[in-house]
Amino acid sequence: MLALKSFALYLIASAASVTALPAALHPFLKPPGASRGPCPGLNILANHGFLPRDGKGLTLPILQQALSDAYNFSPDFTATVFAIQSNPVTGIAVPFALEDLKKHVPFVVEHDASISRNDFATSRSGDNYSYNRTLFANSLQYVRDLGFTELNSTAMAHIRHLRETQSEMYNPQFSYGRLSVNPDGSLVVDPSMPEFFALGEAAFILDLFGSNNGLADSDTSMAQIAWMFTTESFPSGYKPPAVQATLTTALARAAEIKGQLASLPPIPKDVAAKYWNTDFSKKLALQLGGSLLDMS
Ligand SMILES: *[C@@H]1O[C@H](CO)[C@@H](O)[C@H](O)[C@H]1NC(C)=O
Ligand SMILES: *[C@@H]1O[C@H](CO)[C@@H](O)[C@H](O)[C@H]1NC(C)=O
Ligand SMILES: *[C@@H]1O[C@H](CO)[C@@H](O)[C@H](O)[C@H]1NC(C)=O
Repeated sequence: MLALKSFALYLIASAASVTALPAALHPFLKPPGASRGPCPGLNILANHGFLPRDGKGLTLPILQQALSDAYNFSPDFTATVFAIQSNPVTGIAVPFALEDLKKHVPFVVEHDASISRNDFATSRSGDNYSYNRTLFANSLQYVRDLGFTELNSTAMAHIRHLRETQSEMYNPQFSYGRLSVNPDGSLVVDPSMPEFFALGEAAFILDLFGSNNGLADSDTSMAQIAWMFTTESFPSGYKPPAVQATLTTALARAAEIKGQLASLPPIPKDVAAKYWNTDFSKKLALQLGGSLLDMS
């Protein structure tokens, strides 16, 4: 178990200067039997009551309000993502529950080579939606060993590269269409490609919980993101980003990550294997700040 308390104190101390969301209005509470799915960002909103706490009955207006209040997403942007997710092709009917998003078809949140979830085919029990601490810790350890102290777009590109390489090596059913890039560096937008969602998620993570939010200094950005994935709750001191996320800003960030990813040399197989076969979760905890994240 994580020693969450000391880590929480550390985060409070490191984020003293920001205006937090009113915790009293949005305490963490996950009722028994609640529906949760593969998207930590939406799970957090249900855990804090921005979405219905049972994770069910989700409609566009409910999501627009929650994503605007908690993440400063523009309603148009939410509507676009919603339209891609819930339609006759994906078979995700409205209203939906968070666990419905684990469907493994084109155009949906669940995709292979996730940074925190197993591929369906390589998990022990066909679980493609639960948080896997080893897998996530190993991804962070990989970029720490490359010398990154913060989780910026370059580090995120390296993590995506690692996870794609591992899925290519270990998942015989790996399905992961990649996006192409225009000569000017912008993405060819194609939501039928799983990489579209993988890059979009990476962009959200950086903008919501990373140093781009203005919340973190260079070191805490990685600790906060680890906190967010591990606990599915807001890091202490979290506030919505000051800059509203729109389709334009999200695509620009995704293109930035993709641009760096495209220029990386192949990862040697023994290196990818090392960050697959070893459990770095204990080592990572130490490196995230001495005794701050005590895993035992
Ligand atoms: C992902 O997992 C869910 C629940 O176990 C399952 O219904 C779905 O078919 C899986 N996706 C795959 C293998 O495509
Ligand atoms: C978590 O991922 C690792 C690969 O890094 C795998 O060995 C392990 O079986 C996974 N755990 C579960 C519960 O699927
Ligand atoms: C990300 O951080 C590393 C140092 O940890 C730095 O070398 C790199 O230039 C940064 N990338 C960007 C896009 O700022």
